[in-house]
Amino acid sequence: TSRSTVKELLNSSKQQPQIRVCGWVRSVRRGKDIAFIALNDGSCQGSLQIVVAASLLEAPALTALGTGACIAVQGNLVPSPAAEQSWELQADQLELLGGVDAAYPLQKKRHSFEYLRSIAHLRPRANTFGAVFRMRSALAFAVHQFFQERGFLYVHTPIITTNDCEGAGEMFRVTTLNPATPPMIDGRIDWAQDFFGNRAGLTVSGQLQGELFAMAFADIYTFGPTFRAENSNTSRHASEFWMIEPEMAFADLERNCEVAEAFFRYLVTYALEHCRDDLAFFNERIAPGLIDRLEQLVGGQFHRVSYSEAIRLLEQSGRAFEFPVAWGQDLQSEHERYLTEEVFAGPIFVTDYPQQIKAFYMRRNDDNKTVAAMDLLVPRVGEIIGGSQREERLEVLEQRMIAHGIEPASLDWYLDIRRWGSCPHAGFGLGFERLLMYLTGMENIRDVIPFPRTPGHARF
Ligand code: 4AD
Ligand code: MG
Repeated sequence: TSRSTVKELLNSSKQQPQIRVCGWVRSVRRGKDIAFIALNDGSCQGSLQIVVAASLLEAPALTALGTGACIAVQGNLVPSPAAEQSWELQADQLELLGGVDAAYPLQKKRHSFEYLRSIAHLRPRANTFGAVFRMRSALAFAVHQFFQERGFLYVHTPIITTNDCEGAGEMFRVTTLNPATPPMIDGRIDWAQDFFGNRAGLTVSGQLQGELFAMAFADIYTFGPTFRAENSNTSRHASEFWMIEPEMAFADLERNCEVAEAFFRYLVTYALEHCRDDLAFFNERIAPGLIDRLEQLVGGQFHRVSYSEAIRLLEQSGRAFEFPVAWGQDLQSEHERYLTEEVFAGPIFVTDYPQQIKAFYMRRNDDNKTVAAMDLLVPRVGEIIGGSQREERLEVLEQRMIAHGIEPASLDWYLDIRRWGSCPHAGFGLGFERLLMYLTGMENIRDVIPFPRTPGHARF
């Protein structure tokens, strides 16, 4: 017989004979005559109750059957007399595929997220992480669905690259560990040229290459891993994270905000429609009020405010912020929280930042002071999207590069796009982990990515 999933069985519409189900034991309760096993296979939040004769578990081969063990069961799916579930499996065969001993680190009790991070190889079996990674998978699908339905081309931008898109010097260097091909220049090892005679690093963003494709396919998006060597130990920054970056030809800042808003609403709606059980779990156990907040976001307004206006609001707040508020300074997370949680009580687009605090590629506004940038800030998480209209004018772009200390010749291919067949275009980047933090209520970025990489942490 083929394997049924726990999800299929819990949602069954009828009694079923001769069922085979496999999974990991959440708990075992041994009675005098019968024993109950709660079995989970990752297909859903709930566990299937397996009912077996207690004598069956007495077999010497089954002593290693405890929380965490892997078993295969056959039996009949019948209505359950218990109130908590409608179905249970009356088992007549039980096979222990992989036993456990007392050292199994994931016992049936509440463990701290910090402890679970130290056993990231086992934590997918914990109920919270089951819910997180099911939602991560569902939302990745929703990202593709949104853009594919709208005719965007999915482009795979390189992971090894020679350009630091954001110009913040936060790249990891790529080098060889192969002693047969060390980076030799004039007979000496040259660590500055260590990618086969070039200098290369891990991408911080696929945007610049994405722009090249937008100048041929009009609407494109990337969705891949990105890397940042910023040594910041916050709950919102990771050294490796996933980013979705659409890029649109013939688009200005206004259209960029419209698409970002539609995209974000779509993802929240998708979660509400397709991840009901997991959201209910987060709502109950992790973040009370979560579902209400998500529903409010879908039904509510996204506010727009210019950076200058945001600075005015912060100055007028009368608050003693830890970081000073001044025109020309970047917004800190305490400022973002004040604006999204107290002033607007919802998501806001902050636009038109001072040019010196934003990347070189953003389009200069007519005031010669600000650029056509936009960040989407949301309550609790802060910046979730960063984007801009791009500078499509060759001379202005060259000036901006020089002002940012970037040698124009080093990005000649990027400038070529402005030399030949240039057009107004815009795009943005959504941090996938920040999205998941928002949707699940999880408070640490390390707990929404399967194998977190942060300064000092790269196990597995
Ligand atoms: O604002 P950022 O740096 O923008 C870019 O990389 C642009 N090239 C995007 C574009 O216009 N195509 O990053 C975009 C988003 C942020 O808003 C945030 O959600 C996320 O990426 N992000 C991080 N997420 C986790 N850890 C980090 N260290 C992050 N840095 C940025
Ligand atoms: Mg940003």
